Amino acid sequence: METVLQTFELTKAYKTHKAVDSVNLTVRKGDIYGFLGQNGAGKTTTIRMIMGLIKPTAGEVELFGKKVTAKDTDHLERIGTIIEFPGFYPNLSVGENLEIHRYLMGMPDRKVVDESLELVGLQNVKTRKFSKLSLGMKQRLGIARALLHKPELLILDEPTNGLDPAGIKEIRRLILDLAETRHNTIMVSSHILSEVQLLAKRIGIIHQGRLVKEVDIEDIDKFNQHYLELKVKNDRKAVYVLEQKCNIKRYRMVDQGVIRIYEQLEESALLNRMLVQDGVEVSEISLRKDSLEDYFLNITGGTTDG
Ligand SMILES: Nc1ncnc2c1ncn2[C@@H]1O[C@H](COP(=O)(O)OP(=O)(O)OP(=O)(O)O)[C@@H](O)[C@H]1O
Ligand SMILES: [Mg+2]
Repeated sequence: METVLQTFELTKAYKTHKAVDSVNLTVRKGDIYGFLGQNGAGKTTTIRMIMGLIKPTAGEVELFGKKVTAKDTDHLERIGTIIEFPGFYPNLSVGENLEIHRYLMGMPDRKVVDESLELVGLQNVKTRKFSKLSLGMKQRLGIARALLHKPELLILDEPTNGLDPAGIKEIRRLILDLAETRHNTIMVSSHILSEVQLLAKRIGIIHQGRLVKEVDIEDIDKFNQHYLELKVKNDRKAVYVLEQKCNIKRYRMVDQGVIRIYEQLEESALLNRMLVQDGVEVSEISLRKDSLEDYFLNITGGTTDG
């Protein structure tokens, strides 16, 4: 599979603090890549380095198969981006704002303004002042501007930030649509796992500057693991019974009195009976699943609903 964007040990240090620490991420052609991390994790800093807006302390970026150097900026024409809040002139109309951008970017074709507005569904508010737009419309205008020069790779930094659920859904539909109809490769950052999961083909989780996980959505089921969780009074005795009498080998003590069993999941009643028969007090036995969400919560200690 062709790789559109790759970073190699990409690092940005501010004084001694590493905002981004040895990040190796891979975005493949045609993918929607969800770049997930809580506030301050290093998402924007990573994106800024990819775009050449700030200089890495160490490491490299490769775009469209070529290592990026400060001198060679041709690849930037193939990328469209919104980073944090896109700036617009509040007193000018939607169309005028895009027109200015088109002019400044040296794009001779005037049609691109209307085409972009149509792509994001803003054709009916072309004459409306920017300041009169809803937040969701402003975000879509940001995306319209990023699309103006028909980029292959779109990098959107938290495009749903501050939107209500309906607005979030609209942006999600737009992103999916762009990937499907225009075959854009899209990297989209977010701090909300559930949202990224609905969009992305691949997810990279960044935490305290480090890319702690990169996983394909289709592998998430493999990642999800079912287990029986037992809460017992006497865990040493419980382990003895499980191993010797129930023939269980795949288990793990996760806490004092808490045991996770990864086999014979359908035998919870039997296991319970065997343990009780041998005098082990079982206060709880339940079937559970570790999801990416649990993983994300565990490493970030955050919430998933924003
Ligand atoms: N110019 C700077 N000088 C010093 N520290 C910085 C600078 N820019 C970012 N940082 C720090 O780097 C870390 C990562 O910041 P970054 O903006 O990349 O996070 P983020 O994942 O985009 O967060 P958010 O979800 O809040 O946008 C933070 O600890 C931040 O305070
Ligand atoms: Mg950010």
